[in-house]
Amino acid sequence: MERIWIRAASGLIGVYLLMGLPVRGQQSPSVKPFDLIEWNGGKFVYGADYYPEAWDESQWEKDAVMMQEAGFNFVRMGEFAWAKMEPREGHYDFAWLDRALKVLNSHGVRAVLGTPTASPPAWLYAKYPDIAAMDEKGNRYRYGSRRNYCVHNPDFIAATRRIVTAMAEHYKDHPGVIGWQIDNEVGDPKCFDPVSRAAFQAWCQHKYHTLDALNAAWGTVFWGHTYQTWQEIPLPWNTLYDTANPSLALDFERFQSDSTHAYVDIQASILRKLAPRQAITHNEMGMFPGVDYYDLNRSLDFVAWDNYPIFQKDYSQYAAAGLAHDLMRGSKDNQNFMIMEQEGGLGGWATFGGHQAPAALYRVWAYQSVAHGADGVCYFRWRTSRYGTEQYWQGILDQDSYRNSRYEAVAQAGKELGQLTSLLHGSKVVSPVAMLVSPDSRWAQQIQPGVPDFEYDRQLHDYYDAFRRTGISVDVAFPQSDLSAYRILVAPALFVTDQPLSDKLHKFVLDGGTLILTFRSGVKDEHNVVTDKTLPGPFADLAGVAIHEFDPQLNEEQELLGLGASNYPARTWCDILDPTTARVVATYGKSYYAGKAAVTENRAGKGWVFYVGTESKSPLFYDRMIAFAAAKGNVAVNERIPPGVEVEGRQKGGIRIVFVLNYTAEDKTVPLDQAYRNALTGKPESMDLKIPAYQVVVLTP
Ligand code: GLA
Ligand code: GLA
Repeated sequence: MERIWIRAASGLIGVYLLMGLPVRGQQSPSVKPFDLIEWNGGKFVYGADYYPEAWDESQWEKDAVMMQEAGFNFVRMGEFAWAKMEPREGHYDFAWLDRALKVLNSHGVRAVLGTPTASPPAWLYAKYPDIAAMDEKGNRYRYGSRRNYCVHNPDFIAATRRIVTAMAEHYKDHPGVIGWQIDNEVGDPKCFDPVSRAAFQAWCQHKYHTLDALNAAWGTVFWGHTYQTWQEIPLPWNTLYDTANPSLALDFERFQSDSTHAYVDIQASILRKLAPRQAITHNEMGMFPGVDYYDLNRSLDFVAWDNYPIFQKDYSQYAAAGLAHDLMRGSKDNQNFMIMEQEGGLGGWATFGGHQAPAALYRVWAYQSVAHGADGVCYFRWRTSRYGTEQYWQGILDQDSYRNSRYEAVAQAGKELGQLTSLLHGSKVVSPVAMLVSPDSRWAQQIQPGVPDFEYDRQLHDYYDAFRRTGISVDVAFPQSDLSAYRILVAPALFVTDQPLSDKLHKFVLDGGTLILTFRSGVKDEHNVVTDKTLPGPFADLAGVAIHEFDPQLNEEQELLGLGASNYPARTWCDILDPTTARVVATYGKSYYAGKAAVTENRAGKGWVFYVGTESKSPLFYDRMIAFAAAKGNVAVNERIPPGVEVEGRQKGGIRIVFVLNYTAEDKTVPLDQAYRNALTGKPESMDLKIPAYQVVVLTP
């Protein structure tokens, strides 16, 4: 769909101007490459999120000295300081920020400035109360927190333009400002007010042109929901007795994502015009489903994201952060990225969030970011706040500024990364395998999960984690991504498909790729309407199976038999497969469909398609599945990596830079595939690499 979207709304009557945005998947021609700070022969940023406005000015110099000693060349500042930068409407004060920049710059520290729109000042709410979003029950949010503005509100958009323009004009030529972060973690809340409803109606009109087309696409014949004017179209109020049409609900998710993109683009256009030499980014949220990041990132120069691995219950489970890194990288066609908020201490608001990790682990997590393609690491935050909601969200330093163990770990990493930067420069993660993430399928399955236990992201992890246990690098692809370089593609629960995506997967397989499809694939068309073809719909021919029966919710214990003569517990759902041309790889072990096919493989063109009709609780099942796929796809597997140790690599010009990361409290031994030397010391390492608890080793041939 052509990306044309609403730019301004005026008042409750909903008069909208339309503006052109980049067509989905196309890069805006003015987007600059990721190119930040020169550092010892490479380019890398290393630093922290810093809030000088919250500390006495006498502290700034001491902070800058400590930053320099920790190897910092970078801070992010300003993203919550609107009230300080525009204390009264139209009156700007940047003098304090100029002074802070001067102190930092004199210690070699440069900045990305955040536009402060995530936290509008009290006077703006007082003057324009409707800038706050309305929830689906019709209650307007009020002033007192942050991130509750309505993305469609004309007064808020006008105020946004004013502050962003004032900042850009003031800092466009400042040598200490290398770029901009737009807003902070955009994507919510959804707004259900009359202006937003009119905006949604305008979006629908732009998409469908005629009401006949919309009524047909959404199947509004159901319950007689046929619309005769655009103004009749409701919002998906999922309150007590209101359960929205899933087609309307999916379009509302797309609308919300497009509105977020349009709002970010309003800021990006101002910055690009006024400050063309400075780069533009946003701090994204990894697996957050509320925004189609692939789409959003057409408007940004490089990807930055906020990485908080500390929320894992078991710190050795590195794959949660790993998948988020890889998704973020994939959302900008695998261009390297940076971390704008890297865990610098315990997280928590009213309560401290969990048990404290050993300080050494913060260094390992920072290296994990680099291993997955980060060319910059910025910790959240320099020092824990004395004030406000986040007093329990730790920075590197605590309120007393003591050189604690986290500071020492961060400083050690700073020293080392400064040494590694020329080696890292120009290197990238190169993966033979990709996971396909479909924002449409993710949204549609949130709207109708089918079974209570259904989790799209868990299915991603089932396969992703298995690849990572063998040391295989994994990319995340989006429907618009180029798939031609991959040997294996896993497309779990590809629930919603359109013709171009179906054609793309057919081409991928026919040209020689190995595709893994799982249950609930090919069920819906792009309007979230169920196909009238036999499942798996558009993939039935590729998979060589037909599905005439399925068993949701598994009332009985179910198991899978096969794949190396083991049995594995099944969960969530069972598709009962009738092979047409496929060969059976595993069968169900129990119930009335015992002996029926559960997993199949099919030759299609030069490629292979696996169809996995269920999900297993056993990681072993996925180890076996990906070993099968790796054999077909001709991908090498290293099965000897000990649990809790991650091996990831970046490559440039035939050189492989290998990161071995031990997230566990035990010393481990990792057998290497060839002789390497330690990239920091230059000394050769044993091919049985000994890696102490909570340590990282970087290797080059
Ligand atoms: C009730 C209603 C039907 C249908 C079913 C299933 O019986 O009368 O219209 O909605 O529930 O939900
Ligand atoms: C997010 C925000 C930060 C901060 C942290 C911790 O990442 O971007 O401003 O609030 O969470 O809560």
